[in-house]
Amino acid sequence: MATDKATLNVDGETFDLPIITGKLGRPVVDVSAFADAGYWTYDPGFKVTAPVESKITFINGGEGELLHRGYPIDQLADNAEYLEVCYALLHGDLPNAEQKKDFYAKIQQHSGVHDQLRRFFEGFRRDAHPMAIMVGVVGALSAFYHDGLDVSDEKHREITAIRLIAKMPTLAAMSYKYSKGEPFMYPRNDFNYAENFLYMMLATPADVDYKVNPVLSKAMDKIFTLHADHEQNASTSTVRLAGSTGANPYACIAAGIAALWGPSHGGANEAVLEMLDEIGTVENVDEFMEKVKRKEVKLMGFGHRVYKNFDPRAKVMKETCDEVLDALGIDDPKLELAMKLEKIALEDPYFVERNLYPNVDFYSGIILKAIGIPTSMFTVIFALARTAGWISHWLEMHSAPFKIGRPRQLYTGETKRDFVKLEDRK
Ligand code: ACO
Repeated sequence: MATDKATLNVDGETFDLPIITGKLGRPVVDVSAFADAGYWTYDPGFKVTAPVESKITFINGGEGELLHRGYPIDQLADNAEYLEVCYALLHGDLPNAEQKKDFYAKIQQHSGVHDQLRRFFEGFRRDAHPMAIMVGVVGALSAFYHDGLDVSDEKHREITAIRLIAKMPTLAAMSYKYSKGEPFMYPRNDFNYAENFLYMMLATPADVDYKVNPVLSKAMDKIFTLHADHEQNASTSTVRLAGSTGANPYACIAAGIAALWGPSHGGANEAVLEMLDEIGTVENVDEFMEKVKRKEVKLMGFGHRVYKNFDPRAKVMKETCDEVLDALGIDDPKLELAMKLEKIALEDPYFVERNLYPNVDFYSGIILKAIGIPTSMFTVIFALARTAGWISHWLEMHSAPFKIGRPRQLYTGETKRDFVKLEDRK
């Protein structure tokens, strides 16, 4: 990494702050020496703060570029399977034939969950949101794998990553089956990762010859790939922050699931469908867009903190969306509605000036609906896929010395004052 210097003058004192240039992306000013000036830096929303060095994923928001381990996302989505992408995120490169065979076998071997875990599901109300269940049961995995888990041991860390990626589809499908009051379906060795997930979600024990439509399993696999990682986003940063205390990795992933749930992040795919329901018909689109412009509502599935040109994942997702709707012969009025929103947002100066392009969640919601996945499961599917990214970042953090994450604050509360006894308080 090449270094240069930025000079900062504070109260007559000069600070030389190193400028560090990575392989791609903007150089960063290392402000750690600035602490001696008696100031902290202030950056709400971490808009310009890079708290880590990473080798996993690179995003160029201006150019709409997303690379995992150097490979462009569209090439991965078109040519690699999700589990190969997981391997690359975890290990630095795509697997060769032997590594692939070994990795797939390990994932298959760990896809089942401890039978005791079903009791956790029974503790939830049947109408609980599946994300609430996921936060609980993934966190509960830490109770199954805590004693004997040594996070300083590379082998222990690796098996944790395998377990998480392997068990997430099973747990996700269980959360859905529980809400439907249907029996849990166990993973089958004759199905691949995406097929297994669809089977565990959509089949029942009566479906002895259950076949998965290959167009749908391919689309599902692509959805997983397109959500696999996205560098230091809110949920990944949460996983890293929780992990920086040395906490149990399953609990850290549960923290990531919680952070993903919000509508500004992974909850947006569910919110897109709710928005389409609220708009109702194409005739109401113009009125809805006026509400958006008056800032009364947000256009869900549009806009991104990083992508200010287009979201490269949305491009692949749109193609997949067309394939799925074609294969299923679906002519959904919601789609017409979605396309009208997309057209207006791409042409209307209000949206163009603010770079409000459709993001990955806009199309993924429409595909998942077409496949027959209920809306409440959309964010769960995002969490399932993003687990590979979360655990890769956790592994990366643990592979070198790290500090506990401990931000500062700009305090604007009361200054020091004397305690007032209850009887004297007004
Ligand atoms: N609808 C309407 N207006 C919007 C939207 C939107 N979806 N997003 C941003 N804007 C407007 C803001 O009101 C603001 O307008 P102003 O300049 O007149 O004040 C301007 O665009 C800039 O917005 P910011 O809030 O500064 O953008 P930020 O980068 O902080 O937010 C975010 C990004 C949270 C993703 C936002 O665009 C949003 O809420 N989008 C909808 C939710 C969504 O789809 N989230 C998924 C993100 S992708 C993912 O997690 C996979």
